[in-house]
Amino acid sequence: MSKSSLKSVPAHVAIIMDGNGRWANARGLPRTMGHRKGVEAVREAVRTAGEVGIRYLTLFAFSSENWTRPEDEISDLMGLLKAFIRRDLADLHRQNVRIRVIGDKTNLRGDILPLLLEAEETTRSNTGITLVIAFNYGARDELARAMRSLAVDVREGRLLPEQITPERISSRLDTAGIPDPDLVLRTSGEERLSNFLLWQSAYSELLFVPELWPDFNRDSFLAALERYASRERRFGGLSKQPATLAVGS
Ligand code: FPP
Repeated sequence: MSKSSLKSVPAHVAIIMDGNGRWANARGLPRTMGHRKGVEAVREAVRTAGEVGIRYLTLFAFSSENWTRPEDEISDLMGLLKAFIRRDLADLHRQNVRIRVIGDKTNLRGDILPLLLEAEETTRSNTGITLVIAFNYGARDELARAMRSLAVDVREGRLLPEQITPERISSRLDTAGIPDPDLVLRTSGEERLSNFLLWQSAYSELLFVPELWPDFNRDSFLAALERYASRERRFGGLSKQPATLAVGS
């Protein structure tokens, strides 16, 4: 399947990269090897997304609930993310990729926060695809932080309660300025959103694919985009009727 056969390309694709642990288990390997292989799939996904003209690619790298995993798995995931930024930042920058990080940036230990901020700062003016890394991210936590900031504005008299609109809520989320995802994709056959972009995905197409994340390659991505392109999005409205039916009938 070639990229040119795509009828429509989503501007924003958000991916729940699931199945690293199962990929490793199936091979009798430690779970960390699944995450390692997962980083290679991340590189391929960013390349493919840029190639087909996706403008924003959001990847769920670490959820605010992932802290409950065993300490060694957490430290391995942190290590991989740090290594990814250290090794790939220059390359992503050269490719004109802009990096944004969403999630709670307070109370992060060690050198992860400075690295994430450096990645955002270095690539701030890039005009190519935006790679949004969801790190220490949970949608309910993001909404709670947005609500608290609106509540402070109301308390300080800067905002009236009736001025709290959906648009204003969107503008207080970590994703402010980023269009809502057109497509939310989850690998590994699980069919859940797992506290990912709950507000932003109100009208997103949802796609669940069977591949485990380390196996999700360029062809899998193109096949998913093909399925997206065949869907009709109505945003709560009615489906467009063919002209012959709409006129005089
Ligand atoms: C889910 O698999 C995956 C994760 C919790 C982490 C995803 C992280 C990476 C792919 C690497 C770092 C990210 C970047 C952006 C470089 P799982 O462990 O829940 O799999 P399982 O459901 O099979 O156990």
